[in-house]
Amino acid sequence: MTDHVDVSTSQGVLTLTLNRPDKKNALTDAMYGALADALEAAQADPAVRVAVIRGEGGMFCAGNDIADFLGVAAGDVAQAQVFRFIRLLGSFAKPLVAGVQGRAVGIGTTMLLHCDQVVLSEDALLTAPFTTLGLVPEAASSVLLPARIGYQRAFAMMASGDAMGAKEAFARGLAAVVVPNADLDAAVAKVAAGLAALPPQAVQATKALMRDKAAIAATMEREVAVFAERLQSAEAREAFTAFMEKRAPDFSRF
Ligand code: COA
Repeated sequence: MTDHVDVSTSQGVLTLTLNRPDKKNALTDAMYGALADALEAAQADPAVRVAVIRGEGGMFCAGNDIADFLGVAAGDVAQAQVFRFIRLLGSFAKPLVAGVQGRAVGIGTTMLLHCDQVVLSEDALLTAPFTTLGLVPEAASSVLLPARIGYQRAFAMMASGDAMGAKEAFARGLAAVVVPNADLDAAVAKVAAGLAALPPQAVQATKALMRDKAAIAATMEREVAVFAERLQSAEAREAFTAFMEKRAPDFSRF
């Protein structure tokens, strides 16, 4: 249980709100567990036709909680809820909608690749700084991101940590629409209501045809094996410790 994820359902739309603004909505293992529980329940509930993910405060999501990463690395990595959430993202049969304002970091960005309609506010800024944290891409982003935006730009984002603004994300097909910041919630509600009104079986069949679930799952498993190993590496430990100590990491000894 966590009080950092708000779950509500109204008129066929499940809304998952990341609500940890003091930590920029960084995701803890408990939060992944809550998100996974909610998606699992929504999958089984015919009354839910669409799921929306959004963030409270001025920012969508700062990615995985880095202190939590250190804890997960010290324990049984395979049991981490993050992997359960990632697998559910890849297999969720109903349409997923994201409303993104401000920064989306790491999984905050890669989860968007699994959303069927992404609504960005003008101030949205996407990053996926895996290598700079001693890690590797997850959530099938090692395949999905280059497929969407081309290898060179994807490598610059995931290896060097380069950022992408809302305009470019829209132009490269990572978002359905960009709206003024003040209009984000209304735009997301409109998109979700539109999807909820469609014939649900046809929507799910369309999504199933457009997304190769088996290939996504296979990519995820390949990534998880390397990610779990990287999580316990000295390079990642240095990156996480540097973040906690509010200093630049030093990779010169590796
Ligand atoms: N894990 C843990 N704590 C985090 C966090 C994360 N991923 N992101 C932000 N926080 C915490 C900060 O440590 C800070 O805590 P404090 O107030 O106790 O010092 C608080 O949230 C506010 O963050 P701050 O860095 O001051 O906000 P900012 O607006 O200047 O910068 C970010 C926002 C997202 C750019 C910056 O926090 C950041 O780079 N976070 C790390 C992102 C990351 O690497 N995620 C992992 C991806 S795999």
